[in-house]
Amino acid sequence: MEATAKGRDRVEDYINLGVRGFWMPVATSVQLKAGKPLARKIAGENLVLWRDGAGKVRCVEDFCPHRGAKLSLGHVQDGNIACGYHGVTVNGEGTVVRVPAMPDCALEGRKALTYYECNEAGGAVFIYLPSADRPDAPEFVPPEEFTSDEWQVFPCMTYWDCSYRFSLDNAADPMHASYLHANSFTLAYGSKQDTMKLERREKGFQIERVNQKGVNFDYTEVVMDEGTMFFRLDIPYPDGAGPGGPFRIVGFATPVDEHTHYSFFWRCRQVQGTAAESWRFLYRAFLEDRHWHVLEQDRVMLESIPDDARRREMLYQHDIGVSRLRQMMVRRAKEHFKALDAEESAGKQTA
Ligand code: FES
Ligand SMILES: [Fe+2]
Repeated sequence: MEATAKGRDRVEDYINLGVRGFWMPVATSVQLKAGKPLARKIAGENLVLWRDGAGKVRCVEDFCPHRGAKLSLGHVQDGNIACGYHGVTVNGEGTVVRVPAMPDCALEGRKALTYYECNEAGGAVFIYLPSADRPDAPEFVPPEEFTSDEWQVFPCMTYWDCSYRFSLDNAADPMHASYLHANSFTLAYGSKQDTMKLERREKGFQIERVNQKGVNFDYTEVVMDEGTMFFRLDIPYPDGAGPGGPFRIVGFATPVDEHTHYSFFWRCRQVQGTAAESWRFLYRAFLEDRHWHVLEQDRVMLESIPDDARRREMLYQHDIGVSRLRQMMVRRAKEHFKALDAEESAGKQTA
């Protein structure tokens, strides 16, 4: 009995800090400027990112192999990162390439740090955070909106003082829009009562309102595949809101630690050619502020929820998406621990 409770705590703690084994957005591409390191804490790990000589993003632990200073306080030199303390320089694979203070130092050539695979898509930088069961990065397949010519996407990133899990729960709960966002641009439309329906998909699920479609934020698709976890939802737009179909949000929630996270939102519209130009103009000129206003409503509400609220929640039918999402995360966590335990017992046997 006790062992089961311990196992549950271990799984819960792991999920709270951040389920690994996914490609996660960690910065917008413009935040990572050539020549300047960028520090990021992701799922409790301190990391440093920079662009190498070819402009490719690199990421290693933010820890100097010499005496542990943060490499992010240093500078980029010849595509590598040089510590600001004594100049020890590490490349994108975490190998020491230079110890400038001492000729022929034995540290040179030593593999010293963990490095993380990096990619860019949709105007953001992604890293792969390995789990025990998924140590190698799977192919990075971003949401199709990021790579298709049919879509215009605006990436945006916010830092919220609450668990990343609340952002995901929030997305898996379309019904909140009719209440929390009732005074916003389009989210006021429609009925304030409904029943929710959950449809399992090959990669995740879709949660939707039973009695209302195409009126408000009426559905969310939650995708959890081999390498990514994100959500997608559509908000129908009136004709006055420019060309294209519904306004689409593609979102990721990247854990910083148990208490804080980065919420990433891509604001997407399916428009091409000159219509794309007018959409971009309209968005920048009129709509962007409104969207930040709506996000602010989410932020305030989510930051008001205590970290341990799950212990006391009383869910009802509308939370079937939230429950399903949590089940999927528990499953991924268990796969991680199964691999970890197998590694440990293999280690014991050979010891
Ligand atoms: S601590 Fe980084 S070079 Fe000494
Ligand atoms: Fe919301």
